[in-house]
Amino acid sequence: MSRRSEGDNIVLIGFMGAGKSTVARELEPLGGFSLIDLDTVIVQHGGRSIPEIFASEGEERFRDFETSALRSLIGVQRMVIATGGGVIGREENWQIMHRLGTVVYLRASWPTLRRRLAGSQGRPLADSGQDLRLVEALWRHRLPFYERADISIDTDALNATDVAKAILYQFDQRQRNQHA
Ligand code: S3P
Repeated sequence: MSRRSEGDNIVLIGFMGAGKSTVARELEPLGGFSLIDLDTVIVQHGGRSIPEIFASEGEERFRDFETSALRSLIGVQRMVIATGGGVIGREENWQIMHRLGTVVYLRASWPTLRRRLAGSQGRPLADSGQDLRLVEALWRHRLPFYERADISIDTDALNATDVAKAILYQFDQRQRNQHA
């Protein structure tokens, strides 16, 4: 895809358990990026944990916080931004993400995600008490949204370091093409 973005950041998207935060931590030293975790920004802005926000104000309000947190990042440079799995649901978020930089999808199969999410806590939509069939249905519903990313990486057979290296390779190529 040849769309040019304003920012030189990497925006990681993918379902819960795809490894966004882990890969972001690998990208930091490998690519000379600083790390921003969008959920952490939401918690800092809101002064409450994600489960607390969901419980007291509901998902729609959480999504408002998520969009504001994303918007507050406009202007940052050379950051790797690990988003939450549901950021892809709002069109407005896509506009902001494209302004921020290159959107990278960490693709993982359902068996991989299910394994990584086993015993998950602090995720209102995928905590261990959740019906796994509902979590799978949510993943399936979101798949076409994730596929809108500029770069997609199949992560099932790779460790986090190799995912980070694959991202950097494609990111650098894309940057070179944009500036050619
Ligand atoms: C969510 C994913 C979470 C967090 C919130 C909602 C989602 O982030 O933003 O619990 O809707 O997929 P992670 O993808 O980092 O778990």
